[in-house]
Amino acid sequence: MIRFLLNGLDVALDNPDPTMTLQDYLRETRGLTGTKEGCNEGDCGACTVSVASLEGDSLTHRAVNACILFLPQLHGKSVHTVEGITGPDGELHPVQQAMVDHHGSQCGFCTPGFVMSLYTAHRDGRTDFDDVLAGNLCRCTGYAPIIRAAEAAAAIAQPKWLVDEADHIRALDDGQDLMLDDGFLPATLDSFANWYAANPGATIVGGATDVGLWVTKMLKNIAPVVFLHRLTELAEIKTTAEGIRIGAGVTIARLRGAMAGLHPDFAELLRRYGSVQVRNSATIGGNIANGSPIGDSPPALIALGATVTLRHGKDRREIPLEDFFIAYGKQNRKPGEFVESIFIPAQPDTLRCYKISKRFDQDISAQCGCFNITVKDGTVTAARIAFGGMAATPKRANAVETALIGQPWNEETIRAAMTKLATDYQPISDMRASADYRLKTAANLLQRYYVESDHKLSETRLVGRGAA
Ligand SMILES: Cc1cc2nc3c(=O)[nH]c(=O)nc-3n(C[C@H](O)[C@H](O)[C@H](O)COP(=O)(O)OP(=O)(O)OC[C@H]3O[C@@H](n4cnc5c(N)ncnc54)[C@H](O)[C@@H]3O)c2cc1C
Ligand code: FES
Ligand code: FES
Repeated sequence: MIRFLLNGLDVALDNPDPTMTLQDYLRETRGLTGTKEGCNEGDCGACTVSVASLEGDSLTHRAVNACILFLPQLHGKSVHTVEGITGPDGELHPVQQAMVDHHGSQCGFCTPGFVMSLYTAHRDGRTDFDDVLAGNLCRCTGYAPIIRAAEAAAAIAQPKWLVDEADHIRALDDGQDLMLDDGFLPATLDSFANWYAANPGATIVGGATDVGLWVTKMLKNIAPVVFLHRLTELAEIKTTAEGIRIGAGVTIARLRGAMAGLHPDFAELLRRYGSVQVRNSATIGGNIANGSPIGDSPPALIALGATVTLRHGKDRREIPLEDFFIAYGKQNRKPGEFVESIFIPAQPDTLRCYKISKRFDQDISAQCGCFNITVKDGTVTAARIAFGGMAATPKRANAVETALIGQPWNEETIRAAMTKLATDYQPISDMRASADYRLKTAANLLQRYYVESDHKLSETRLVGRGAA
């Protein structure tokens, strides 16, 4: 049985299709058509619902996209849809009332999604509304009335009909492995490792922000499916004097929090990763394992000298992250082996990350450049530079690094190093950018790093209302 709460009521599904999306279940099985289907690929936010789960002992509320969330991912959690946030006598939730009062309800397609993003923010006391709403796309009127509604609702207390569901949720999951006909929900890391070693053809699901689209857009049959979300060991972040170890199941939202104090520019890069909804689901393990040349975390992690721990059954091996990416679609991962954790060594923060995309928010990178350069007494003593979107894999800029190390940190050195990008990369032209644009931009980003390090008062960044 997959067990969860839906608008406060118990749901128990006997052996469901593990790739049925919450969206389809809500609309087609439950008739809850307030959750809209816009894009069916995680982009528009029309299907936003609020999911509460236990993180340690505390209950967290997260806005997620129902269209790319599989039913088993809800086991042991609570979902609220737009139908489930009003009071027992039909009183509107404060964000709903504020949307009415401030004319924030602009079209029937997007309004429920906006309301659910705002509802989740209201529960958590979040007021960075530009960021909260970046994953809810409006193409008709604009955001001003909705932001006014959000600001007005923020001043109003939580309605008293909202109950703490922590104990109810805790009772839903008995902590045992859960086997479906076509899916497996392991309860411990060891049972997952053993099962996957014996079933290497299975599809691992982290947050399903990639895999979800294989089902909804490519109509692929991905059975059997194994879900990682119950594995608390994979959700750990451990800090020691040597560095920080991040479990593969840590979401991008939590990674952003962990990076804020250590490498704030990495955290800022992650703020522009998809949307709140995508970051709440997507995991760091999925972002690495998918091997995408334009994934946002690998360039930053490579620039930080991160290593990845791969596990097969009981066996582990740790390799530099840059060696994990072999060629397009080919990673250094054996059948039955999975990404267990990522380790970032402790170091002073000299990391700067630049994401180039057509839209500022909620867009995949055309290019992502990350620079980690150490300068002592005016001379470059170390440099780690990595780019996404410049080659078939995320890749280090070895020739540029060689041109920098041992040289004085000045404009002349930078100009010489800029010419080496063409040695390191032969980018392609595609719908996101031309090869020429990519090479020129990469060189300009190196120059920008120099300007930011040496002319700290120069304004080189756009800072939005929601910027951290
Ligand atoms: C609307 C939208 C916006 C996006 N924006 C961005 C963006 O700005 N930047 C960006 O980098 N990406 C973006 N993505 C892509 C996606 O979010 C990332 O690639 C994400 O990190 C994948 O993680 P996941 O946990 O959702 O992976 P899943 O979809 O669950 O899995 C992805 C792949 O990794 C495998 N996998 C997952 N976990 C493991 C593991 N521990 N070990 C081995 N294999 C594993 C899966 O089997 C699958 O092959 C976006 C996606 C969407 C839908
Ligand atoms: S329908 Fe567009 S994000 Fe889900
Ligand atoms: S609110 Fe739906 S397009 Fe603007």
